[in-house]
Amino acid sequence: MNPTNTIITIFGSTGDLTIRKLLPAIEKLLQEKLLDDRTKVIAVGRRDYTTESYLSFVEKELKVPFNTKALIPHVTYFKLDVDNQKDYLSLKQYIASISNSDTRKIFYLAVGPELLKGIATNIGESKLVEKEDLNATITFEKPFGSDLASAKAINALLWQYFDEKQIYRIDHYLGKEMIQNILTVRFANKIFESVWNNNTIKHVKIYAKETDTILSRAGYYDTSGALKDMVQSHLLQMLSLVAMEVPRSYNSEDLKNEKVEVLRKLRYDRKSLVIGQYDGYQNEPNIAKDSKTETFVFFKAFVDTPRFKGVPFYLLTGKALEQKESVIIIEFEETSEQHKWDLPLFTNKLYIKIAPQDGISLTLNSKVPGLRNAVEEVDLDYCVACNAVGNLPEAYEKLILDMTKHSKSLFTRWDEIELSWQFIDQVKQDIVNKQIPLRIYKNHQELYDLIYEMTGESI
Ligand SMILES: NC(=O)c1ccc[n+]([C@@H]2O[C@H](COP(=O)([O-])OP(=O)(O)OC[C@H]3O[C@@H](n4cnc5c(N)ncnc54)[C@H](OP(=O)(O)O)[C@@H]3O)[C@@H](O)[C@H]2O)c1
Repeated sequence: MNPTNTIITIFGSTGDLTIRKLLPAIEKLLQEKLLDDRTKVIAVGRRDYTTESYLSFVEKELKVPFNTKALIPHVTYFKLDVDNQKDYLSLKQYIASISNSDTRKIFYLAVGPELLKGIATNIGESKLVEKEDLNATITFEKPFGSDLASAKAINALLWQYFDEKQIYRIDHYLGKEMIQNILTVRFANKIFESVWNNNTIKHVKIYAKETDTILSRAGYYDTSGALKDMVQSHLLQMLSLVAMEVPRSYNSEDLKNEKVEVLRKLRYDRKSLVIGQYDGYQNEPNIAKDSKTETFVFFKAFVDTPRFKGVPFYLLTGKALEQKESVIIIEFEETSEQHKWDLPLFTNKLYIKIAPQDGISLTLNSKVPGLRNAVEEVDLDYCVACNAVGNLPEAYEKLILDMTKHSKSLFTRWDEIELSWQFIDQVKQDIVNKQIPLRIYKNHQELYDLIYEMTGESI
């Protein structure tokens, strides 16, 4: 497909997301000619910058080498007060002056959730995006709401002004190479087709571990916590992709229809729920001394579909843990031949590695070379980055490119968000009603020992 003539208008252009992710992604897409040379980026902000001083600011803020010069022909800084309707009309005039009827117009709200409704309303009211014009779209960052009620309110507002086809809700995990690869591994390999079910899969583990603490995200994180920040979006998306039925086709709507069915059939075992907070969290700057926000969460869930009924899904995410690792581990049942062997055999495991390194590995039983009768677990390991030519694309490169092409497979549909908030609200309610204790942890092992005691599963 030919690159499209696009104008990307970014609200929140002085923020971390724009500087660290969006502008570098746009620069890379331009460099690779995946975005047309005519592409324009309108960096909207409230500060007094010229385009030149804005780009100098970006360069200074970025700690890694980045060629802002390549962006000079494309970027314009536009000062706007997000609450002032007149400023949106000026923006509209400016966009009209640099576009034609074919121009693809993307309005990207790279701002905190508190600004989302106001900016979306003003974009709608000023007719920067009109329902009939599918060439104009609007993009929202996660988090989309803070619970089911707030997400519903935001969505109702959006539907008042925009068609669902114009709304792009981002969960950047979906842009990651290995998340996209889950479907390929599952559906493009005959060897997995007949074993992807509860006859053969013993359990699934989905981990997103971080060594970092909350760093500078105190304000947002303390109102959110691990359940809302990670489970509602990234972990449930990964679970849906692993557990979904075979889609009718691989188009965006058919894929989402199957992911939604997983969320409808999702339940969790309340007795397995562990929540924790790393020791020292309450002493972090801008965190209340009595904050009860969880920085760790673990639970066992089930997907009550014929394919996965009875298979435990262990979900775990947390901060200040022993390693940075996002991974899906699919463990298969013991072989029915085990009883004829004098030796214990290992269960086969499929690892889908998302971060820090992208890759897949599959463990097998293999004879130990030599005269002794022994079996060892061997690892067929594929490192994606090691084999890719050039650097692997960043999630935001893929997501921005897809926006320009109107491709919505990697964006979340409203019903996915609705059902995932419904699930999270239930867990949150249980924490309060059932008085689930918040465990203060000095190190990960205390939590992992507890999980072992409660579920018999080692992490
Ligand atoms: N950073 C990431 O890597 C990342 C990853 C995934 C999702 N997100 C999501 O992306 C969104 C933005 O995150 P961020 O990290 O970029 O936040 P940030 O660094 O705090 O930036 C927020 C942006 O909003 C602007 N802003 C704040 N209050 C404003 C106001 N009253 N009027 C006009 N502009 C205002 C800021 O302008 P000033 O500079 O003038 O204050 C800044 O440009 C959040 O929803 C976040 O959850 C971020």
